[in-house]
Amino acid sequence: TRLAVFASGSGSNFQAIVDAVNEGLFDAEVALLVCNKPGAKVIERAETAGIPAFVTSPGDYSSKAEFEKAIVSKLEENRCEWIILAGYMRLVGPTLLEHYEGRIVNIHPSLLPAFPGLDAIGQAMDKGVKITGVTVHYVDSGMDTGPIIAQKAVTIEEGDTRESVQKKVQKVEHILYPQTIGEIIALSKNVK
Ligand code: GRF
Repeated sequence: TRLAVFASGSGSNFQAIVDAVNEGLFDAEVALLVCNKPGAKVIERAETAGIPAFVTSPGDYSSKAEFEKAIVSKLEENRCEWIILAGYMRLVGPTLLEHYEGRIVNIHPSLLPAFPGLDAIGQAMDKGVKITGVTVHYVDSGMDTGPIIAQKAVTIEEGDTRESVQKKVQKVEHILYPQTIGEIIALSKNVK
Protein backbone atom coordinates (compact mmCIF):
# COMPACT_ATOMS: atom_id res chain seq x y z
CA THR A 1 0.00 0.00 0.00
CA ARG A 2 1.43 3.31 -1.07
CA LEU A 3 1.01 6.19 1.35
CA ALA A 4 1.33 9.92 0.84
CA VAL A 5 2.14 11.74 4.07
CA PHE A 6 1.13 15.41 4.22
CA ALA A 7 3.23 17.32 6.75
CA SER A 8 4.41 20.89 7.08
CA GLY A 9 6.19 21.02 10.41
CA SER A 10 8.94 19.21 12.26
CA GLY A 11 7.72 15.88 10.92
CA SER A 12 8.15 13.77 14.03
CA ASN A 13 5.02 11.81 13.09
CA PHE A 14 6.25 11.48 9.50
CA GLN A 15 9.43 10.00 10.96
CA ALA A 16 7.52 7.62 13.23
CA ILE A 17 5.56 6.33 10.23
CA VAL A 18 8.70 5.93 8.10
CA ASP A 19 10.42 4.09 10.97
CA ALA A 20 7.43 1.79 11.48
CA VAL A 21 7.38 0.94 7.77
CA ASN A 22 11.11 0.25 7.84
CA GLU A 23 10.67 -1.98 10.86
CA GLY A 24 8.04 -3.93 8.94
CA LEU A 25 5.23 -3.01 11.35
CA PHE A 26 2.79 -2.94 8.45
CA ASP A 27 2.80 -3.66 4.77
CA ALA A 28 3.09 -0.20 3.24
CA GLU A 29 5.47 2.25 1.76
CA VAL A 30 5.74 6.00 2.26
CA ALA A 31 5.73 6.92 -1.43
CA LEU A 32 5.59 10.71 -1.16
CA LEU A 33 5.80 13.63 1.23
CA VAL A 34 3.52 16.55 0.44
CA CYS A 35 4.60 19.73 2.22
CA ASN A 36 3.18 23.22 1.86
CA LYS A 37 5.91 24.97 3.85
CA PRO A 38 9.18 25.43 1.99
CA GLY A 39 12.02 25.01 4.49
CA ALA A 40 10.10 22.80 6.94
CA LYS A 41 12.23 20.30 8.84
CA VAL A 42 10.15 17.40 7.55
CA ILE A 43 11.64 17.96 4.06
CA GLU A 44 15.10 17.12 5.41
CA ARG A 45 13.71 14.00 7.02
CA ALA A 46 12.26 12.88 3.67
CA GLU A 47 15.58 13.50 1.94
CA THR A 48 17.41 11.44 4.54
CA ALA A 49 14.89 8.64 4.15
CA GLY A 50 15.12 8.77 0.35
CA ILE A 51 11.44 9.66 -0.02
CA PRO A 52 10.42 12.08 -2.79
CA ALA A 53 8.91 15.35 -1.59
CA PHE A 54 6.40 17.56 -3.34
CA VAL A 55 6.85 21.00 -1.79
CA THR A 56 4.20 23.42 -2.87
CA SER A 57 2.47 26.57 -1.62
CA PRO A 58 -1.20 27.34 -2.10
CA GLY A 59 -0.09 30.88 -2.94
CA ASP A 60 1.45 29.61 -6.18
CA TYR A 61 -2.00 28.72 -7.55
CA SER A 62 -5.01 30.76 -8.59
CA SER A 63 -7.38 28.84 -6.30
CA LYS A 64 -7.51 26.11 -3.70
CA ALA A 65 -9.00 23.77 -6.31
CA GLU A 66 -6.03 24.36 -8.64
CA PHE A 67 -3.63 23.82 -5.75
CA GLU A 68 -5.29 20.54 -4.84
CA LYS A 69 -5.46 19.44 -8.48
CA ALA A 70 -1.69 19.80 -8.65
CA ILE A 71 -1.40 17.66 -5.53
CA VAL A 72 -3.75 15.02 -6.94
CA SER A 73 -1.66 14.73 -10.11
CA LYS A 74 1.47 14.23 -8.00
CA LEU A 75 -0.30 11.62 -5.92
CA GLU A 76 -1.47 9.80 -9.02
CA GLU A 77 1.96 10.01 -10.61
CA ASN A 78 3.34 8.34 -7.48
CA ARG A 79 0.43 5.87 -7.30
CA CYS A 80 -0.50 6.89 -3.75
CA GLU A 81 -3.52 5.10 -2.32
CA TRP A 82 -3.92 6.76 1.07
CA ILE A 83 -3.36 10.26 2.42
CA ILE A 84 -1.93 10.46 5.91
CA LEU A 85 -2.14 13.96 7.41
CA ALA A 86 0.57 14.60 9.99
CA GLY A 87 0.70 18.28 10.83
CA TYR A 88 -0.50 19.49 7.45
CA MET A 89 -2.26 22.52 8.99
CA ARG A 90 -4.75 23.13 6.16
CA LEU A 91 -8.31 22.11 5.59
CA VAL A 92 -8.60 19.45 2.93
CA GLY A 93 -10.86 20.72 0.15
CA PRO A 94 -13.42 19.00 -2.09
CA THR A 95 -10.89 18.17 -4.83
CA LEU A 96 -8.76 15.98 -2.57
CA LEU A 97 -11.75 14.63 -0.66
CA GLU A 98 -13.41 13.45 -3.87
CA HIS A 99 -10.33 11.71 -5.18
CA TYR A 100 -9.45 10.02 -1.88
CA GLU A 101 -12.85 9.48 -0.33
CA GLY A 102 -12.56 7.37 2.82
CA ARG A 103 -8.81 7.14 2.41
CA ILE A 104 -7.65 10.26 4.24
CA VAL A 105 -6.73 10.14 7.93
CA ASN A 106 -5.50 12.73 10.40
CA ILE A 107 -4.00 12.81 13.87
CA HIS A 108 -5.02 15.49 16.34
CA PRO A 109 -3.53 16.21 19.77
CA SER A 110 -6.73 16.10 21.84
CA LEU A 111 -9.57 13.74 22.63
CA LEU A 112 -11.92 14.92 19.89
CA PRO A 113 -14.55 16.30 19.75
CA ALA A 114 -12.92 18.37 22.48
CA PHE A 115 -10.47 21.06 21.37
CA PRO A 116 -10.49 20.91 17.58
CA GLY A 117 -8.40 23.34 15.55
CA LEU A 118 -5.17 25.09 16.35
CA ASP A 119 -3.20 24.66 19.57
CA ALA A 120 -5.26 21.84 21.03
CA ILE A 121 -2.80 21.33 23.88
CA GLY A 122 -2.92 25.01 24.82
CA GLN A 123 -6.72 24.92 24.69
CA ALA A 124 -6.80 21.90 27.01
CA MET A 125 -4.41 23.49 29.48
CA ASP A 126 -6.32 26.77 29.50
CA LYS A 127 -9.48 24.87 30.44
CA GLY A 128 -7.62 23.00 33.17
CA VAL A 129 -8.61 19.54 31.95
CA LYS A 130 -6.88 16.65 33.72
CA ILE A 131 -7.16 14.21 30.86
CA THR A 132 -6.46 15.02 27.24
CA GLY A 133 -5.01 12.79 24.56
CA VAL A 134 -4.64 11.91 20.92
CA THR A 135 -7.22 11.10 18.24
CA VAL A 136 -6.80 9.45 14.86
CA HIS A 137 -9.79 10.05 12.60
CA TYR A 138 -11.00 9.92 9.02
CA VAL A 139 -11.02 13.30 7.35
CA ASP A 140 -14.16 15.02 6.11
CA SER A 141 -14.72 18.62 5.04
CA GLY A 142 -14.82 19.95 8.61
CA MET A 143 -12.05 20.95 10.98
CA ASP A 144 -11.08 17.78 12.90
CA THR A 145 -14.62 16.43 12.61
CA GLY A 146 -14.47 13.10 10.74
CA PRO A 147 -15.31 9.68 12.22
CA ILE A 148 -12.95 8.67 15.02
CA ILE A 149 -10.81 5.57 14.54
CA ALA A 150 -8.60 5.48 17.63
CA GLN A 151 -7.96 7.48 20.78
CA LYS A 152 -5.53 7.36 23.65
CA ALA A 153 -5.60 9.42 26.83
CA VAL A 154 -2.78 11.49 28.27
CA THR A 155 -3.04 12.79 31.82
CA ILE A 156 -2.18 16.33 32.79
CA GLU A 157 -0.64 16.26 36.25
CA GLU A 158 0.05 18.98 38.76
CA GLY A 159 3.28 20.68 37.74
CA ASP A 160 3.01 19.72 34.08
CA THR A 161 3.95 22.47 31.65
CA ARG A 162 2.95 22.96 28.06
CA GLU A 163 6.25 21.43 27.04
CA SER A 164 5.91 18.39 29.28
CA VAL A 165 2.35 17.74 28.09
CA GLN A 166 3.45 18.15 24.50
CA LYS A 167 6.18 15.58 25.07
CA LYS A 168 3.74 13.08 26.52
CA VAL A 169 1.29 13.69 23.68
CA GLN A 170 3.99 13.21 21.04
CA LYS A 171 5.16 9.99 22.61
CA VAL A 172 1.62 8.64 22.37
CA GLU A 173 1.19 9.95 18.81
CA HIS A 174 4.31 8.20 17.57
CA ILE A 175 2.97 4.85 18.74
CA LEU A 176 -0.74 5.28 18.07
CA TYR A 177 -0.50 6.67 14.54
CA PRO A 178 1.61 3.94 12.91
CA GLN A 179 -0.40 1.29 14.75
CA THR A 180 -3.73 2.69 13.59
CA ILE A 181 -2.54 3.17 10.01
CA GLY A 182 -1.48 -0.48 9.99
CA GLU A 183 -4.91 -1.52 11.23
CA ILE A 184 -6.95 0.44 8.72
CA ILE A 185 -4.76 -0.69 5.82
CA ALA A 186 -5.20 -4.31 6.87
CA LEU A 187 -8.94 -3.75 7.20
CA SER A 188 -9.24 -2.16 3.76
CA LYS A 189 -7.46 -5.15 2.22
CA ASN A 190 -9.90 -7.58 3.82
CA VAL A 191 -12.84 -5.59 2.59
CA LYS A 192 -11.64 -5.49 -1.02
C1 GRF B 1 1.04 16.73 15.86
O1 GRF B 1 0.87 17.12 17.17
C2 GRF B 1 -0.27 16.33 15.27
O2 GRF B 1 -1.15 15.82 16.20
C3 GRF B 1 -0.80 17.62 14.71
O3 GRF B 1 0.33 18.29 14.24
C4 GRF B 1 1.47 17.89 14.98
C5 GRF B 1 2.57 17.51 14.02
O4 GRF B 1 3.80 17.36 14.67
N1 GRF B 1 -1.82 17.37 13.73
P1 GRF B 1 5.05 16.75 13.90
O5 GRF B 1 5.37 17.70 12.75
O6 GRF B 1 4.68 15.39 13.41
O7 GRF B 1 6.16 16.70 14.88
